[in-house]
Amino acid sequence: MTTYLVTGGCGFIGSNFIHYMFGKYGDEIRIINLDALTYAGNPENLEDVAGRSNYTFVKADITDKEAVRKVFAENSIDRVVHFAAESHVDRSIVEPELFVKTNVLGTANMLNCAKEAWDNGDGTFHEGRRFLHVSTDEVYGSLPEDNTSFFYETTPYAPHSPYSASKAGSDLLVKAYMDTYKFPANITNCSNNYGPYQFPEKLIPLMINNALNGRSLPVYGDGKNVRDWLYVEDHCRAIDLVIEKGRLFETYNVGGHNEKQNIEIVQTIIDVLREELPDTDPRKAKVTYDLITYVADRKGHDRRYAIAPDKIKKELGWEPETMFREGIRKTIAWYFDHMDWMEHITSGDYMKYYEKMYGDRD
Ligand code: NAD
Ligand code: DAU
Repeated sequence: MTTYLVTGGCGFIGSNFIHYMFGKYGDEIRIINLDALTYAGNPENLEDVAGRSNYTFVKADITDKEAVRKVFAENSIDRVVHFAAESHVDRSIVEPELFVKTNVLGTANMLNCAKEAWDNGDGTFHEGRRFLHVSTDEVYGSLPEDNTSFFYETTPYAPHSPYSASKAGSDLLVKAYMDTYKFPANITNCSNNYGPYQFPEKLIPLMINNALNGRSLPVYGDGKNVRDWLYVEDHCRAIDLVIEKGRLFETYNVGGHNEKQNIEIVQTIIDVLREELPDTDPRKAKVTYDLITYVADRKGHDRRYAIAPDKIKKELGWEPETMFREGIRKTIAWYFDHMDWMEHITSGDYMKYYEKMYGDRD
């Protein structure tokens, strides 16, 4: 039985990944989920798997050497899938040091503990072990608006935000471990994900939640920044493929040639919400384009991201399966069906966060 140590499994992509893996492999695998439960970690995301005998939750911080060592000492870990990170660009602009601590030092600690546990003592590592570092396309910086340039695995790193700089730092550490120790790892650099369980600080769930509550939809700058959107399940499938079939030490870019301007995304959300809400629903009258409000731009706002997924397609046969129109419908349907989930996470400190980030933007 293959044992996975997943870090950050209570977050957006981590929880989708755990669902995906149990859906695909059932009782053939074991998953240990190590998560510090920051504001972004929500055990409710995994309520349905919590009772499984092949699932264990460990509340711990990835920067905590003793806690991580203990997990490796007490379990024979075959695979590490490292998601845990501070992930929101706007927060990184306000609190950069936390991003360095979690993303850089936390990754260094994960690498060290895995290296120590898997070391054969002769410069080799236990057979078949793999460390997958989940990273982002933001490390490559910003592309011009020409629609002809893309991020390849060979594109030089040029991060701009404290978030992307800290992720670049973590990627470089993984590369250093592979080069120096022949440590068995891979890196995936993925574009913007969307789907169920995403915290409403990110564009898509924030706009859905605001629209349903009749609140204005804050579009940064001119709304023409471009992101390359991927349905989260397609990302999870790519991660599984890279761990199982990817060439060791390689980086794979993951993205779907689905570039959209932010304003198009916001308009699509309004259109789909209007189609889905019944005429009798009092919220419907308020969900209109009038809610769109242009606000002050994000500092250092990257203009365009676009992944070239040629390598993962050629080597592993991966391609996105969920097209945007279908993915956004599924996502909106999920949020409709899980209004209680949204209420739980927006009832505590969320409104304080919202005030702080958006209060003086208008
Ligand atoms: P998220 O913010 O939703 O979840 C992060 C998870 O990590 C949470 O469960 C949180 O509790 C946990 N965590 C944070 N700090 C921790 C610490 N010190 N110790 C242990 N756990 C900690 O993030 P996400 O959007 O699911 O992203 C997951 C990973 O994927 C990140 O590494 C991110 O950089 C990367 N990524 C995200 C996207 C995206 O569009 N969301 C795209 C590409 C790559
Ligand atoms: O590209 C991958 C990255 O995508 C991941 O590494 C990050 O973890 C993830 O947060 C995401 O980063 P972005 O900054 O692209 O995502 P965000 O949802 O914050 O913003 C998407 C775009 O929408 C961006 O151009 C900023 C804009 N935006 C965002 C918010 C929250 C708005 O116009 N208004 C908003 O309120």
